[in-house]
Amino acid sequence: MKYKKIVVLTGAGVSAESGIETFRAADGLWENHPIDQVATPQGYARDPELVHRFYNQRRAGLKTVEPNPAHIALARLQEDMAAKGGTLTLVTQNVDDLHERGGAKDVIHMHGELRSMLCGACEHRWPHTEDASPEMACPDCDTEGAPRPDIVWFGEMPYHMDSIKRALADCALFVSIGTSGAVYPAAGFVQMARQMGKETLELNLEPSQGSHLFGQSRLGPASQLVPEWAQSVIAG
Ligand code: OAD
Repeated sequence: MKYKKIVVLTGAGVSAESGIETFRAADGLWENHPIDQVATPQGYARDPELVHRFYNQRRAGLKTVEPNPAHIALARLQEDMAAKGGTLTLVTQNVDDLHERGGAKDVIHMHGELRSMLCGACEHRWPHTEDASPEMACPDCDTEGAPRPDIVWFGEMPYHMDSIKRALADCALFVSIGTSGAVYPAAGFVQMARQMGKETLELNLEPSQGSHLFGQSRLGPASQLVPEWAQSVIAG
């Protein structure tokens, strides 16, 4: 095995072939909604009913999609590396649960998760798989109206940045899969990795915004590129 420790960052492109729409495919609209309406704290304060309805639809939509060969190949690679004493740290910007359903372990959801709620009053988080509404009460502090979708909205700090930075410092290879490189801090991971002397690889349908920063860039659909790359890591 060529690499003992790998960090993989995934974005919407890894779930595109499962039928989940990417963010920048539709002119600044996310499933027909302007981003500031459904993905900012201000949008939520303006119309919590609409925002809950929007995430309820996305959460319900998870029941209609399945992991694709890219999710499954990453999970197998993680397992194969672990069996050989290595580590694959999987960081995702995606709020779906397709990596987990593909078999991946300890997935770091830096932008939160659809199947989780967050209490705006006490910061308690809990798994939630059904519809949510503005009237809900937090199961921990009982505050009514405080629970919100556990999604990192624009202007909020992504989760787990310390452990992501530690994993980057510790790895030999950083791989970015299916992300446009438009949203920081995730878009900056390639520069961090390069500055620390790590190898860097991009697997994407088209060159991302930071494509030139990667040591290597392979273009094509994730369902094809990821299994091929995973195979080469195990064989190498
Ligand atoms: P984007 O929609 O910005 O980018 C998706 C990328 O995936 C594009 O570069 C596509 O070319 C590529 N792509 C599409 N189909 C693909 C396929 N079948 N195989 C491989 N690549 C494919 O999505 P993200 O980069 O994930 O943030 O967006 C980053 C963040 O912006 C999201 O997490 C979200 C959004 O606003 C929050 O919600 C906080």
